[in-house]
Amino acid sequence: MKFQVEWFDRLASTNATMRELFLCDGEPREGFVVAAREQTAGRGRQDRKWISTPGQDLCFSLFVRTGTELETVPSLSMAAALAVNDLLRSTGILSAPKWPNDVLVGEKKICGILSERVEPAGIVVGIGLNVNMTGEEAGAIDRPATSMLIESGKPRDIAQTLEALFQPLEYWIGEWKRGGFSNLRKTWTQQAGPVGKPLAVHDGGLKKSGALAGFGNHGELLLRTKNGIETIWSGEVS
Ligand code: BTN
Repeated sequence: MKFQVEWFDRLASTNATMRELFLCDGEPREGFVVAAREQTAGRGRQDRKWISTPGQDLCFSLFVRTGTELETVPSLSMAAALAVNDLLRSTGILSAPKWPNDVLVGEKKICGILSERVEPAGIVVGIGLNVNMTGEEAGAIDRPATSMLIESGKPRDIAQTLEALFQPLEYWIGEWKRGGFSNLRKTWTQQAGPVGKPLAVHDGGLKKSGALAGFGNHGELLLRTKNGIETIWSGEVS
């Protein structure tokens, strides 16, 4: 994959800008990246806001050319989460991917991913990685959050952090393109598991409790409950 980055000082959302480029300029190339030093309306999953510190955190979207069957979207986000996790671990930060597509350090979120289909040709993978966010800034977010700075004590260059992600992204997206979630399952289950761990899944108003039974062919979570194995496509795990 050849990465080509366009940096913006300030925009609403890199996912939205990627879509606009897609609509105005035809199809972005595979590997095209829209990156922003500041997002004024960063979006998260389930209509939440994504808060990042202007100039200090990494916000970008990557275009991946692929068939756009709806069920392929979640596992591409999982491939991206494995890539971010590899980068963090290579810097000594003991992170772990969390289903469906976050990266956590302990119970604190360091990276969130929002992937969206663009018809007819691809998926926009939006990645927010907290790089130089301070403890005070993380504390102002309504959910437990952390950053590379908080975890390692070391400030980092944002553009270099983006570049350091290219190799793991290329590896995991390559695996995903060759074999879908089957090629991710072993690593994902090792790092986000173990199978058998107790889980509660909140999906809208519904709460389901059970134990992790594994992950299905598209990365869907399999929950062992007293009614048997249930398949969960979306939700929040605790
Ligand atoms: C989540 O955890 O809910 C997903 C957060 C995704 C945030 C990234 S930042 C870059 C891209 N642009 C957006 O507006 N959102 C994603």
